[in-house]
Amino acid sequence: GNSPQQALIKLHEKAKEVYHHMLVNTAAGQLALDYLLERGLTQELIDEFEIGFAPNERQFLQQVFANEKVDSTLLVQSGLFVERENGELADRFYQRIMFPIHDVKGKTIGFSGRILITPDYPGENQPKYLNSPETELFNKRQVLFNFDKARPVIRKENTVFLFEGFMDVIAAWQSGVKNGIASMGTSLTSQQIAIIERVAGEIVISYDGDNAGLKATDRAIALLDEHSNLDLAILQLPEKLDPDEYVQKYGSEAFYELAYHGRETVFGFKMAYLRQNRNLSNEKEQLDYVTDLLQELAKVDSLLAQDRYLTQIATEFHLSRETLQQQLSEFKQKRR
Ligand code: GTP
Ligand code: MN
Ligand code: MN
Ligand code: MN
Ligand code: MN
Repeated sequence: GNSPQQALIKLHEKAKEVYHHMLVNTAAGQLALDYLLERGLTQELIDEFEIGFAPNERQFLQQVFANEKVDSTLLVQSGLFVERENGELADRFYQRIMFPIHDVKGKTIGFSGRILITPDYPGENQPKYLNSPETELFNKRQVLFNFDKARPVIRKENTVFLFEGFMDVIAAWQSGVKNGIASMGTSLTSQQIAIIERVAGEIVISYDGDNAGLKATDRAIALLDEHSNLDLAILQLPEKLDPDEYVQKYGSEAFYELAYHGRETVFGFKMAYLRQNRNLSNEKEQLDYVTDLLQELAKVDSLLAQDRYLTQIATEFHLSRETLQQQLSEFKQKRR
């Protein structure tokens, strides 16, 4: 067809092809390719995810489309260019490794570009990742990286893994965890949750193991609690690693094993998370902690799980199980 949307998609598909060609077949892409291979990607994965490279030129993509006589309003609408003060267009993406972003049907609607730091290009004051701006096609709040490819596996397993970054999704894929997706570096939106809920019954939050990742995990739990009926599980990585770093360090098999046998419950995560920055030898802080835990425990549906955790808390803090049970019942009442 000829709708403006379709023309924009065509433009993105073309850009994807050209960027991919630059990465895998040209001298200009050599350092980027070396970098990706060094990070453990393979030629096969680079093809599978159609990763590309935007060279360090401001008129590169523009030249490509000039040769094809593409209408300039379309170029502006695409978000692939920025308008300079003199009215001229310049490529938005340069000196970046390009991750194409697809809609749920697999059509290319935008890009995220990771800066490539080289001796000649220190990239000071440049963001690590640069995304397409909001366009007719690209709405960050609705986009889930890799959803198009992951969907059949998500359906089959009834489970989706939610990662922070593109490289994490790709590392997981390489390890055999092919039902991984990522939001675009922001916290999950209700639109994204709705898309996920159509195909999955369970979501495994697998954010980075650093403090930012833990915080984001806590926020994602709250969002999913409020806006979905999905079952939640948490995949926490040791040593503040992110999934990609974990695969690099311990290998694909270890990651796969962790993904399927090392998951935690939400309450297990909360026990560790709420403990942070608390001095539990202080009486008040200890009681605050126990109170917070009981409040979290009130959200747990399984009575068997509640029973087990109550015993655990009673034992650790030398409190009577009856009192804990009473307090828990009160919190459960309040939630109704
Ligand atoms: P690598 O260093 O390539 O492994 O990236 P990462 O995925 O580990 O990045 P990080 O954990 O720092 O961030 C997770 C995600 O947040 C990324 O995949 C991006 O989507 C997003 N993000 C990170 N840095 C930026 C940034 O500077 N700008 C924007 N817009 N998003 C970012
Ligand atoms: Mn290829
Ligand atoms: Mn991170
Ligand atoms: Mn990370
Ligand atoms: Mn990383």
